[in-house]
Amino acid sequence: MKLFDVYPLYDVTPVRGKDVYVYDTEGTPYLDLYGGHAVISIGHSHPEYVAAISEQVKKLGFYSNAIQNPLQVELADKLGALSGCDDYQLFLCNSGAEANENALKLASFHTGKSRVIAFNNAFHGRTSAAVAATDNKNINAPINVQHQVTFLELGDTKSLEQELQKGDVCAVIVEFIQGVGGLDEATADFYEETGRLCKVHNTVFIADEIQCGYGRTGDFFAFRKYEVTPDIISTAKGMGNGFPVAGILIHPSIPAKYGMLGTTFGGNHLACAAAIAVLDVLKKEKLMENAREISAYFIEKAQRIPQIRKIKGRGLMLGIELDFEVGELRKKLIYDHHIFTGGSSNKKLLRILPPLTVKKEHIDTFFEALNT
Ligand SMILES: Cc1ncc(COP(=O)(O)O)c(C=O)c1O
Repeated sequence: MKLFDVYPLYDVTPVRGKDVYVYDTEGTPYLDLYGGHAVISIGHSHPEYVAAISEQVKKLGFYSNAIQNPLQVELADKLGALSGCDDYQLFLCNSGAEANENALKLASFHTGKSRVIAFNNAFHGRTSAAVAATDNKNINAPINVQHQVTFLELGDTKSLEQELQKGDVCAVIVEFIQGVGGLDEATADFYEETGRLCKVHNTVFIADEIQCGYGRTGDFFAFRKYEVTPDIISTAKGMGNGFPVAGILIHPSIPAKYGMLGTTFGGNHLACAAAIAVLDVLKKEKLMENAREISAYFIEKAQRIPQIRKIKGRGLMLGIELDFEVGELRKKLIYDHHIFTGGSSNKKLLRILPPLTVKKEHIDTFFEALNT
């Protein structure tokens, strides 16, 4: 059987990973400044993570959500403590899109309304409502576009207020730092006013922290920089360090009802073991502090390069904007220098999304390669 050919592929075959490197079939190391799309948080094949998953699969890999699963409770407790969101409730699922799909569905159940507000350049995933709230016509099929979604300019408070006043909006969904869109952010005023307006108009405020969350910005969640209290926070990527696990954190003001959300695989034993190990390592190795420190080092080095027009992002969710399209540069970095980086819908932006364990010497390697 052939694979369904939907991905343009680089000609590299990683077969092994260790911390910030992956190794191909010949044993050649590649410096992973892309983190497999912001997924690798505690480093490839972290020994504690490998041990936790291995031990768990020997005991019990999976059972359905019809039984008691103390690992889910442990994960919720540790996630609440490290994120500062102990009073939220956790629903576990398997991927970022699924997290946003459940967030939007819950917003609609809770408010009885159905229109969604999303922002230009947003990316929220590829399932039905999540992709409809994604600003990319090419990945929306006719079945998706029947959702009622209004796209606004990120930062346009006046239009947001006008739309919310119509009274039919169940959710405003926002990435506090846009990922795929190219690392744009709005102001504190905008985010804080959005939170306030959502409350006034009985609209659920969803923070999509799938890419910018889980310690990547140096805060556990990117919204922490602002005075906001999202009603739902969606999380995935770094949560499992590559193991498919995701979730939504739900504010106590939104009550649960049996059956309103559900999943077969979400929150299974193996996924919980992986996610618990990630939280333990994030805390023990102080990786959020590391994200802040290495970020400052990166920015300082980038500021010295005249070809860099703009430095965007926060923590280890960074982008450098050049005065040319970066597609060829990314290929050169991979094939000549063995360094993975990311692109975005802004073709001139090179994205840096390394494991949160990255060190200064890796940043030096990157800038040496960029200068040759
Ligand atoms: C902000 C954001 N939301 C949602 C998603 C979708 O996540 P997944 O690919 O796990 O479905 C992504 C993936 O890149 C993302 O960056």
